[in-house]
Amino acid sequence: MKWQIAVLGGDGVGPEVTQAALEVLRETAERFGHELIADTQEVGYAAYERTGNPLPEETLAACHAADAVLLGAVGDPRSAGVPVELRPEASLLALRKEMECYANLRPVRLLPALVSASPLRPEIVAGTDLVIVRELAGGLYYGEPRGPLEDGRAAVDTMKYHEDEVVRIARVAFETARGRRKSVLSVDKANVLYSSRLWHRVVDEVAEEYPDVECDHMLVDRAAMELVLNPSSFDVMLTPNLFGDVLSDEAAAVVGSIGLLASASTGSGPGGIFEPVHGSAPDIAGTGTANPLAMILSAALLLRHVYSLEAEAEAIESAVAEVLEDGLRTNDLVRAGEEAVGTAEMGAAVAAAVANVGADASA
Ligand code: IPM
Ligand code: MN
Repeated sequence: MKWQIAVLGGDGVGPEVTQAALEVLRETAERFGHELIADTQEVGYAAYERTGNPLPEETLAACHAADAVLLGAVGDPRSAGVPVELRPEASLLALRKEMECYANLRPVRLLPALVSASPLRPEIVAGTDLVIVRELAGGLYYGEPRGPLEDGRAAVDTMKYHEDEVVRIARVAFETARGRRKSVLSVDKANVLYSSRLWHRVVDEVAEEYPDVECDHMLVDRAAMELVLNPSSFDVMLTPNLFGDVLSDEAAAVVGSIGLLASASTGSGPGGIFEPVHGSAPDIAGTGTANPLAMILSAALLLRHVYSLEAEAEAIESAVAEVLEDGLRTNDLVRAGEEAVGTAEMGAAVAAAVANVGADASA
């Protein structure tokens, strides 16, 4: 199979972790007899600096032409003085919108090797295995009106949902639950917000299409608490855009590090944007110390979602589990006294492990 992938490293640690993921993808392609065609493009501050546009036409065209997009991270402190609509974050929101990615899936699983990397006690965090299904194309991120008011002395954002937007993301959550433990927990703030009352009602309506899946609701503040008190109780968490953004960073910390969480942003088309949940981490950019595992696991999600290549995706996921079992740790995961490996070393180790997984399978 030919893998035609638009590769957007972006800003900060983005290009470094992207390199590591590409190495793993190349190894996986070779092992399983595929061909990787990577079309590397600029996005974010790097693109803005060179072209004046954080999402240049060539980049957008390449994303549309490819089967899927692999994206590192965007964001740079130097963009503070840049007009809001030309900042790196705006380019990511525009890209998600352009690619019609309304569903953001963020799997959160505690890897056995990392029980001690969690800030929670082992008996609490053990067995954590959930997926956040975050609405990605609406809500507070896009609602109108938005912007400064009164010459910058006030500002407004709008949390708006149309029932069609809730229906389509709810269906993604219920379908996801069908492939798992058949339980959806919808998160809202229906005790205060009108948009949440709509969300709650529509999710209940969609739930009727899925009598085999359990459906519950929880207020977002309580959900934030439950996520640290009882993380293993969740299966699929369905959230509006902003709540999912916040809860996914919390969930990442619960299972050890934001450097581990991968995500798949998909919509009605076959493709999507595959990116780590973490940001560009400008404080460690260029040091070669970032954890590439979230990016590598995002590449695995790409193979699974876009090409239905389950064995290939699993090979990458097992390779990640294996190198962690072998004790390899990047800076974000080391405990006092432990040695850390760098981004490239971690990537190379995963690639080597993928090579072996393939060899075992064919032996
Ligand atoms: C994420 C990020 C983005 C978001 C930012 C960079 C715009 O935090 O993917 O979680 O808020 O969606
Ligand atoms: Mn975020």
